[in-house]
Amino acid sequence: MSSLENLSREDRTFPPSPEFAAQANATAALYDEAAADRLGFWAKQAEYLHWDKKWDQVLDWKPPFAKWFIGGKLNASYNCLDRHVLEGRGDRVAFYFEGEPGDARAITYAQMLHDVKKATNALIELGVKSGDRVAIYMPMIPEAAVAMLACARIGALHSVVFGGFSADSLITRINDADATLVITADGGFRKGAAFALKPIIDEALAMEPNNVRNVLVFKRTGQEVPFNSAIDIWWHDIVDRQSAEHTAEFFDAEHPLFILYTSGTTGKPKGIFHTTGGYLTQTSFTHRMVFDIKPEKDVYWCTADIGWITGHSYVVYGPLINGTTQVMYEGTPDTPTKGRIFEIVEKYKVTILYTAPTLIRTWMKWGEEFPKAHNLTSLRLLGSVGEPINPEAWIWYRDVIGGGKCPIVDTWWQTETGALMISPLPGVTACKPGSAMRALPGISAQVVNDEAVALGNGSGGYLVLTEPWPSMLRGIWGSDERYQETYWSRFEGKYFAGDGAKLDEDGAIWLLGRVDDVMLVSGHNISTTEVESSLVSHPNVAEAAVVGATDAMTGQAIVAFVILRGGIPSVGGDELIKDLKAHVSKHIGPIARPSRILVVNELPKTRSGKIMRRLLRDVAENRAVGDSTTLADPHVMKLIQSGLASSTSDD
Ligand code: PRX
Repeated sequence: MSSLENLSREDRTFPPSPEFAAQANATAALYDEAAADRLGFWAKQAEYLHWDKKWDQVLDWKPPFAKWFIGGKLNASYNCLDRHVLEGRGDRVAFYFEGEPGDARAITYAQMLHDVKKATNALIELGVKSGDRVAIYMPMIPEAAVAMLACARIGALHSVVFGGFSADSLITRINDADATLVITADGGFRKGAAFALKPIIDEALAMEPNNVRNVLVFKRTGQEVPFNSAIDIWWHDIVDRQSAEHTAEFFDAEHPLFILYTSGTTGKPKGIFHTTGGYLTQTSFTHRMVFDIKPEKDVYWCTADIGWITGHSYVVYGPLINGTTQVMYEGTPDTPTKGRIFEIVEKYKVTILYTAPTLIRTWMKWGEEFPKAHNLTSLRLLGSVGEPINPEAWIWYRDVIGGGKCPIVDTWWQTETGALMISPLPGVTACKPGSAMRALPGISAQVVNDEAVALGNGSGGYLVLTEPWPSMLRGIWGSDERYQETYWSRFEGKYFAGDGAKLDEDGAIWLLGRVDDVMLVSGHNISTTEVESSLVSHPNVAEAAVVGATDAMTGQAIVAFVILRGGIPSVGGDELIKDLKAHVSKHIGPIARPSRILVVNELPKTRSGKIMRRLLRDVAENRAVGDSTTLADPHVMKLIQSGLASSTSDD
């Protein structure tokens, strides 16, 4: 990665304020403690959980297979709920639920426990046993969390499939996990209208033979749904009549907790498989430290859907173990207005907001008038996850949403890592906008070159993890071979995350996107992320996606797709394009100057908000656009293609 050293440097640094540092959960001593005795450090964090029986051994590591807290016994659902109720916190609100149509519910820990016990008894009546797999395909409503915790309570594995996935994706996941029960809803609310889920299950189950015995259907919208009384059961018919008594059984620390599918860049989705003790230890520890949770006073809001790992670790398990009060919102950020998120922050006096760069850039595009119309002064900490956050978006987030006073935690992790891995500690770390900074205490990360040699400061390469961590995936469901091959074969003995990264002069880690997002232009490696960040730092640009298109002269040529920012007057067409090219040239260097820039209204994104550069590359190279079924909006590609055809070519 020869030229990475020459790429843009972000010199702004934001040290923690003395006021925040004085009250922070985290201290710098955590790093020393973990460095002195890593296993002792994690054992201490595990003590925070309720164990029915303590472990005999902290770690058994037979690379690449790890077992944590061997011999220990615990129950995930008990740790999330029973414990708080037994210790007198039953009246605390667990969820302030805000439905898209405006219906709202405050659900206490005692109520959650009551609901989970009844749902558990219903699962037992349906014959679900420990070790069985249950697919959950629900909108973002509290019952989705209830369903997950009911499974965990009896040791059944949940496999949550995001409610936006098609019948095709659904049946692939149901069959890969061999699920015997599907929990769903008639539908949910999105963009001001009810959408249907149940017919998609029916379509999925008709596609391939499967072992699903029952479909449990929660009534959310009241819409008409096809009903097959041989296998379908209404939630209210079976759950409501159950006893509210259920004593949790304790399972081994390594008892499977869930499977969550993540789409590989190619090929069939991978069933990432997590177990109990280590996962709960690391999710709850990181949630306490990185989000500085004060459960008696904070109102925390992670905007992720339960269908993603962020929803698992930082809506369900981490926050509930910590007794957090949180907001859960069913709908989209622009319904009924583009100020919806800010309206909810104001309504519940949210103190901690955790969201994704794609939403932050969307807010930038919409303009400041929406956040400015609301009182956001309750916010005291902001988080970012899912993609590298461009420095300009980071600054905007801090200034416009956080009123210039909130620390920002840019958290790097993956479905596979289960919990946060690289992130600032608020109150401790002086942050650089756009950098996730350093590995958390107890986590060992390196940046290595092609030969697996660890690089020093000022160099770029591949991000690897060098020691097992408690919440690491225990495998890919059904394929140990694929697990070894995907994560452990590229660099001997090290976990290869698939991300490019660089260490700056001070040793801060900068994530550069997936390694397949690195361009090779005239022999220089240039990260798409850095060119995107440079474009986004231009006052007229809200969002940018950059790809390398095959070029006879330079190997690859840089092609950029940009969305302009609302409310800012700009020079028109060709002038603006010239200006943007000059901007990147000045900011990063002439080598990074895009050869072509196209202004678009939308970018192709997956439902989890990641830009699908592969499709943009197809457009830039004049190929038929590849498989776009995982796009949140499949029409976007047509719009972009027609725009490109009519655009001016390279200058
Ligand atoms: O490329 C990294 C990017 O998202 C990938 C993991 O995606 P997923 O399993 O869907 O989990 C997303 C939520 C944890 C990573 O390999 N990524 C995630 N967080 C960041 C990030 N890239 C840069 N900075 C981040 N903070």
